[in-house]
Amino acid sequence: MSDRTEQLRAIRDEVLNLTESPLYAYRVQNGYYPVIGQGNHYARIMFIGEAPGENEAKTGRPFCGASGRFLDELLASIQLKREDVYITNIVKDRPPDNRDPSKQEIAVYAPFLERQLQIIQPQVIATLGRYSMKYILDKYNAAERNEPISKLHGRVVRVIADWGALSIVALFHPASALYNPTQRQIHLDDFQVLKQFM
Ligand code: URA
Repeated sequence: MSDRTEQLRAIRDEVLNLTESPLYAYRVQNGYYPVIGQGNHYARIMFIGEAPGENEAKTGRPFCGASGRFLDELLASIQLKREDVYITNIVKDRPPDNRDPSKQEIAVYAPFLERQLQIIQPQVIATLGRYSMKYILDKYNAAERNEPISKLHGRVVRVIADWGALSIVALFHPASALYNPTQRQIHLDDFQVLKQFM
């Protein structure tokens, strides 16, 4: 087993036993799994969503419901498969009723995302939705960190990570197209920006 896989498994084991999380009891009561991440441990592109929904919490896999099917379509539109990238979320357990993750939840799970970043060391972080966008832009103190997603989506923000140059691409959350078909083309256009990194 590669060193990266071992380190990612250690994260999984720690999250499984994260009794101090405000979402731990809800997970156990419902027989849910935490969702750590999935994909290539040597990926150049890492996608970061918000938090698992019900399908994800039932299977332990990120983006496996309706949003995930659209995400697969978006990946396919630029000839990418899930195995080519790494997909995770900031918050690793499902918040009740699919509500937005709270500040406290983000604070509890962010150290695990930080470790995933250090292990995978991507060249590109594609954020899915405004919570992960804000977290990553703040983390790297990007000049654009106070801009709304409506302005930043589909643009490349360049910063320096511990391991070298890093491009941040803010994308809308795929769920935003599910009930708003006119949004679909915006997602497809935004994904084109990732092609330059492949
Ligand atoms: N939405 C997310 O942000 N992440 C998932 O894993 C599924 C839906």
